[in-house]
Amino acid sequence: MLSKEDNELMCRTGRGSAMGDAMRRFWLPVMQAADLPAAAGEPKAIEVLGEKFIAWRDQQGRPGLFAEHCLHRGSSMQLARAEGDGLRCIYHGWKFAVDGQVLETPNVADPKFKERIKGRTYPVREAGGLLWAYLGAVDEQPAFPAWPFMAVDDAHRISAAAVVNCNYVQVIEGLVDSSHLTVLHASGLAKTNGVELDFAKKTTHMQFDASPTIEADETDFGFHYVAIRKSGANRMARIASFVAPCFVANPNGDLWFAVVPVNDERCNFFHVWWSNEKAIGEEPLRMQQLAFVGLDEPTLTKYGMTAATCDGEQAMSRRNGYRQDRAQQRAGHWTGYDSFTQEDAACSVSSGALRDRSQEMLSAADIAISRLYRSLLACAKAARDGQQIPALQADVGKVVGTFGEIGPGEDWRSLVPHHKIVSGKAAQAGRV
Ligand code: FES
Ligand SMILES: [Fe+2]
Repeated sequence: MLSKEDNELMCRTGRGSAMGDAMRRFWLPVMQAADLPAAAGEPKAIEVLGEKFIAWRDQQGRPGLFAEHCLHRGSSMQLARAEGDGLRCIYHGWKFAVDGQVLETPNVADPKFKERIKGRTYPVREAGGLLWAYLGAVDEQPAFPAWPFMAVDDAHRISAAAVVNCNYVQVIEGLVDSSHLTVLHASGLAKTNGVELDFAKKTTHMQFDASPTIEADETDFGFHYVAIRKSGANRMARIASFVAPCFVANPNGDLWFAVVPVNDERCNFFHVWWSNEKAIGEEPLRMQQLAFVGLDEPTLTKYGMTAATCDGEQAMSRRNGYRQDRAQQRAGHWTGYDSFTQEDAACSVSSGALRDRSQEMLSAADIAISRLYRSLLACAKAARDGQQIPALQADVGKVVGTFGEIGPGEDWRSLVPHHKIVSGKAAQAGRV
């Protein structure tokens, strides 16, 4: 449970908010690289942390992220002419390169004027199939993160993004909440039996124990979170890593998430799978994987979970019953949704665009949820009070999610060699 004040502090990420300031200290994925316009193509409008931007590639293929409003007198650069080496505002013709250089100011006679000013652009990098941006103060830019999936070839990686119409924290909660898997995704997990996809093989055991033992340890990057389920004489431990402020390494070991606020009531939910051995990014493996979890384009579009459809009639809402298929449910399906992604989204969205946490009743199954609140609030408060932001110095290349069997007396921490508790109690355990 959180006070209304702390809830606001944790959830709101607009410019000038404490959490917004904290988030702007990190490199964040802002869109899939594949969704960027082609070289010298039309500029594309996006929103991140409640701010509007224009994404574009110049004729050399260099990506750029521009503040939406023209430096001169604020017309939208969404209207700009794409002219190869820069974007030209249609109002008075000022032209800007992707690095912020002002190339032309045709309504100003002084040819030196353009050299004294700089366009509003932000540092961007393409890595791991995503476009990353740094939206914070220039002198505080951190090193670019080296997440493990960035090291593999594109053919060995699948990235996908879903738009979810609720605050980002609600989506992250679902990622550190193992006990919902056996219940909410019961029908999906039942379908994993005998399926050849790695994802199916790694999750199929979860259908057999609905009340795992949950523990969480605070670490330098956020927290490690384990769900331990009975597995014959032994126990199966699934360990996720939450990396502040919005990243999760899934216990499957080959799946990573980022949940980046679009604004306070909408977020981009990025997924990346990667494999050193298999070319999972090539068809048909890629599409099989995406379709299995409901991240294929037709399914996302059906539920209004793409940038183009998230404001449309098909988006989940109270008015349309969150697009639940009651006939499918009566026919035996647990939820009446197409797949995992839609089930998670329905629960997150239906709890409110920005959930009130002063009314909730957490249980022992929710230890990681409390940890999440604590970790996020630590970031927000550090930013607000001018302190060092936890996790900013963490080496994310070493962060893993993992799972494995542990013997009767064995500690789950042996599965995460880099585990380092930074403060608080070593563990909080509970049986639901
Ligand atoms: S408003 Fe863009 S050039 Fe004047
Ligand atoms: Fe889920």
